[in-house]
Amino acid sequence: MNDPANDSSSLDDRLPVVVVGAGAMGKEWLRMLVKSHSAAPVGVVDLDLDLAAAAVASLGLDIVVGASVVEVAERAGAQAVVNVTIPQAHRIVNEQALRAGLPVLCEKPLAPTVAEALRQVALADLTGSLLMVSQSRRYFNHLAAYREAVGALGSLGAIHAEFFHADHEPGFREQMDHPLLVDMSIHHFDQLRYLVNDEPIAVRCSSWNPPWSWFAGHAAATAEFELASGARFVYAGSRATPGLQTSWNADWHVYAERGAAAWDGDTVVRVDAEDIPFNVPDRREGIEGSLEEFVVSLRAGTTPQNEVRANLLSLAMVEGAIRSSERGGDRVVLDDLLEESLAQAIVDEQRDDVAELLRSWSSAAEAITSPAWGSVPADIASGGAL
Ligand SMILES: NC(=O)c1ccc[n+]([C@@H]2O[C@H](COP(=O)([O-])OP(=O)(O)OC[C@H]3O[C@@H](n4cnc5c(N)ncnc54)[C@H](O)[C@@H]3O)[C@@H](O)[C@H]2O)c1
Repeated sequence: MNDPANDSSSLDDRLPVVVVGAGAMGKEWLRMLVKSHSAAPVGVVDLDLDLAAAAVASLGLDIVVGASVVEVAERAGAQAVVNVTIPQAHRIVNEQALRAGLPVLCEKPLAPTVAEALRQVALADLTGSLLMVSQSRRYFNHLAAYREAVGALGSLGAIHAEFFHADHEPGFREQMDHPLLVDMSIHHFDQLRYLVNDEPIAVRCSSWNPPWSWFAGHAAATAEFELASGARFVYAGSRATPGLQTSWNADWHVYAERGAAAWDGDTVVRVDAEDIPFNVPDRREGIEGSLEEFVVSLRAGTTPQNEVRANLLSLAMVEGAIRSSERGGDRVVLDDLLEESLAQAIVDEQRDDVAELLRSWSSAAEAITSPAWGSVPADIASGGAL
């Protein structure tokens, strides 16, 4: 593959972006963007200016650095923003960018709560700009292969996913109440929604912190989701697991009408059923795949898989699981959670235009069914390739 930094013809076509947040993941994005054929970094924003300057210098870049997304974007001639700040800062940064007419690709989780996420759906609607959530775990070629196999197995009985890791990443994660569910399971819950042609409707969950855990909050959980078809998604996870660890993508097992299929979260897909062919595509993976879909959607006017509205149910799975755990494992209906979150969003919203739009919605469930941006769903535009 050519290095775009040395390829002036491809540089002209790259989308100029500002990266907001120069922490651990912000640097990952910058490293990827330097080599990307889809977009180029033209500015970096962080509240910590020294950190932003050091990130830029470490990559040998000579680009604009500052503390204000709008100012840096203007000075640098950026056409979009990649938001890699902490979850608590996502909404405010997204609001500044969208109101300045800049589309945003925002790291997961979109917000700490569904109520805060709904305010961003309304904001995207008002500004008419694309707000996409980067759920990078969707972009794995073996997950796409597994999805193809699972799709051919007929009616599903259950989908099991297990995630066992020992994560030592000091910072906001180790202080969160629910570091597993909020910061990590969002990936696996969103992968479930990519994997099956079905949606979650209710959840029962139990979460806790193992006695040796270095996390302040609950590093472990089990959850059972009911899907609209009647199938179950059974999840178990821990971020404080000293041995026998799984892939970052979790370890998956599905049984269905015509057989069963498993994925180790990396490169092994196994199918125990007759005549179930599947192909492993050759596409960009992880954050590179997510960036590519963002840029293609912007240019073609198509709706990406994780346009802000489509992402809301993944976030509702997280909050529903937390709510159930806090209520001793009671069944939480996600539609109820969505409507209560809309009421909360209206109370919390300070901007009149956003509050007025939220009040005009007859229901949150209805508001998240049609995309705020783009006319053609990406999977249709791509001929089902996504
Ligand atoms: N996709 C993945 O696999 C993956 C992996 C790791 C992290 N993430 C996500 O990336 C995001 C960042 O995680 P991280 O590990 O880099 O965190 P971090 O704490 O290392 O970095 C966050 C940075 O954001 C800056 N910041 C905070 N508020 C800001 C604001 N209002 N304006 C500008 N800058 C601000 C902080 O100063 C800090 O430098 C999180 O949402 C996290 O969940 C995703």
